[in-house]
Amino acid sequence: MADGSIEIEVDLPDGGVLAGIAEVVREGLSSPFKELPPKYFYDERGSELFERITEQPEYYPTRCEREILQSRASDIVAAAPRTLIELGSGAATKSRVLLDAMRDAGTLERFVPVDISEGITRRVASELTDEYPGIAVEGIICDYETHLERIPRPEGALIAFLGGTIGNFRPAPRRSFLARIATLMYPGDRFLLGTDLVKDRARLEAAYDDAAGVTAEFNKNVLNVLNRELDADFDPDAFEHVAFWDEDNEWIDIRLRARAEQFVDIRALDMRTHFARNEEMRTEISTKFTRDRIESSYADAGLELTDWWTDDEGLYALSLARAV
Ligand code: AVJ
Repeated sequence: MADGSIEIEVDLPDGGVLAGIAEVVREGLSSPFKELPPKYFYDERGSELFERITEQPEYYPTRCEREILQSRASDIVAAAPRTLIELGSGAATKSRVLLDAMRDAGTLERFVPVDISEGITRRVASELTDEYPGIAVEGIICDYETHLERIPRPEGALIAFLGGTIGNFRPAPRRSFLARIATLMYPGDRFLLGTDLVKDRARLEAAYDDAAGVTAEFNKNVLNVLNRELDADFDPDAFEHVAFWDEDNEWIDIRLRARAEQFVDIRALDMRTHFARNEEMRTEISTKFTRDRIESSYADAGLELTDWWTDDEGLYALSLARAV
């Protein structure tokens, strides 16, 4: 086999994920119902806290997804993809399960990790060229939501979007994101999507409010990010973590509730914002799906479900789709 190769393309605005934070936060805090986007959770501490969430007994999605990947890897790569494109590849733990299956099937040629973090993607690229001799790694450092069309798309690809992150999207952006994926796909390509499933309220709410308080800390950490990046003076302890199942929207609604009336200065925005006692600010939604809802989301986007797998308990699903 040919020697492996590494190419890294950086396609980030100055400031990376934080580009535009001033405008986004100003708008989010100016609305009568305050809201922050979840992407600011993941500074170094937030990323560590998320890793700890995935180890909590109540947070089943990561374990379930791993179980399905491990037991179904050879079925997932049955269309014989030569390239794995992974949106949000991170440390490539899940990628390796798929890359192993592609190697075992004798089809593996290329890995395209797409991630916002340059450091981790460079590290992963050099690790993987050692672990998979002959593989070409073409890392793309970008925000995949805005830069989807710039990702290379060779024929014969498996495009993976795992972890249930699609659940963070509102219905309209979700539809357009899936539709954009569909237009990128060649006939033999497959899209692999990880989605958490609708289940009883107690189980769902516990997963987003673990007894050890890690999710609460993760949620409040976004205030530390604003303090640092926008010279704000949020007191994270003045807020309470709230996570509840919204049955009508079929999402977990994650919020911070002001324990008392307060004013917060956001000096970089020249802004002072007011919180009434018990006022809630949304920080994330995490949508849960049913097979029907996924099939119709796919159909709306020009995709067709070809395969569906869940873990033993039926808590979480991986599905494969092709463009129609
Ligand atoms: C990384 C978006 C999939 O929604 O379950 C976990 C984030 N937030 N606990 C999820 C999260 C609170 C997670 N995703």
